[in-house]
Amino acid sequence: QLDLKGRDFVALADYTQEEIYALIHDAIELKRLQKAGTPPQPLKGKSLAMIFEKSSTRTRVSFEVGMFQLGGTALFLSKNDIQIGRGETISDTAQTLSRYVDGIMIRTFAHSTVIDLARSATVPVINGLSDLNHPCQALADYMTAYEKKGKLEGLKIAYIGDGNNMAHSLMMGAAKLGMHIAVATPEGYGPDSDVIKQSKEQAELYGSTITLTSDPQEAAADADFIYTDVWASMGFESEQEKREKAFKNFQVNESLVKYAKSDYLFMHCLPAHRGEEVSEGVIDGPHSIVFDEAENRLHAQKAIMAAIMRD
Ligand code: CP
Ligand code: NVA
Repeated sequence: QLDLKGRDFVALADYTQEEIYALIHDAIELKRLQKAGTPPQPLKGKSLAMIFEKSSTRTRVSFEVGMFQLGGTALFLSKNDIQIGRGETISDTAQTLSRYVDGIMIRTFAHSTVIDLARSATVPVINGLSDLNHPCQALADYMTAYEKKGKLEGLKIAYIGDGNNMAHSLMMGAAKLGMHIAVATPEGYGPDSDVIKQSKEQAELYGSTITLTSDPQEAAADADFIYTDVWASMGFESEQEKREKAFKNFQVNESLVKYAKSDYLFMHCLPAHRGEEVSEGVIDGPHSIVFDEAENRLHAQKAIMAAIMRD
């Protein structure tokens, strides 16, 4: 049992391979116990504040239900309803909330907001999505991949689409977990250069490889998993039309998945846009595991919260 008590969970980059695997195994065990009707309640009497500056279905519900199942409670704080919306600083908000609650989750735009919050808070801070990364989703995704294939090391994941927060967390996760990841993006929409550099450094340590290309077929070749995400993330809605043109050859559809292994699995963090980044046949077809990923947000985040917020 690793001791992660008091740690923030703002990026997979901050966690070792051993720690990420430990969280995946904890999540699988919490899932088993929940389904067996014997869920442990290590966070009895504890509270989680959840700040949302963007919309959410999965993150909000899975954190709220997860806290409840662990014996605690969660507060939904939309930015329009708390004083952040009227200009109270992140630092003052963090210091205030730290006097009431045992952990803070935030979904925001700039990643620096998450960092500022974590710096000023005296309780653990969890990143529920920033423009730079989405570590809770990537943890749930690799947990799901592990459940389906029984291992991760040596397997290949192809990420096709926008070099966004999801691409970043998946790259860092794959690098740390000993997987091979190929990322295909249109010119001008590639991943962040610092994330590429840091993921490549981690990949060296763990025998992983990171391939960047603008050819979706090259990325999909022999993949065990094909992952995609929306072309216009939250905050980029005004670029929708421009992006539809730039990404038109990057749809994950029946002709692209032919390049993958015959038992490939299709992954998507959701919400999805059928007919844009993925065809209906692929996302609703037999290879799709998107709702297993969605379910595992609950179990993965319970593992994170139990590890960092426990006494
Ligand atoms: N995948 C994900 O984070 O979904 P929500 O935006 O619904 O929380
Ligand atoms: N990349 C997407 C993920 C949503 C869960 C976004 O940031 O909107």
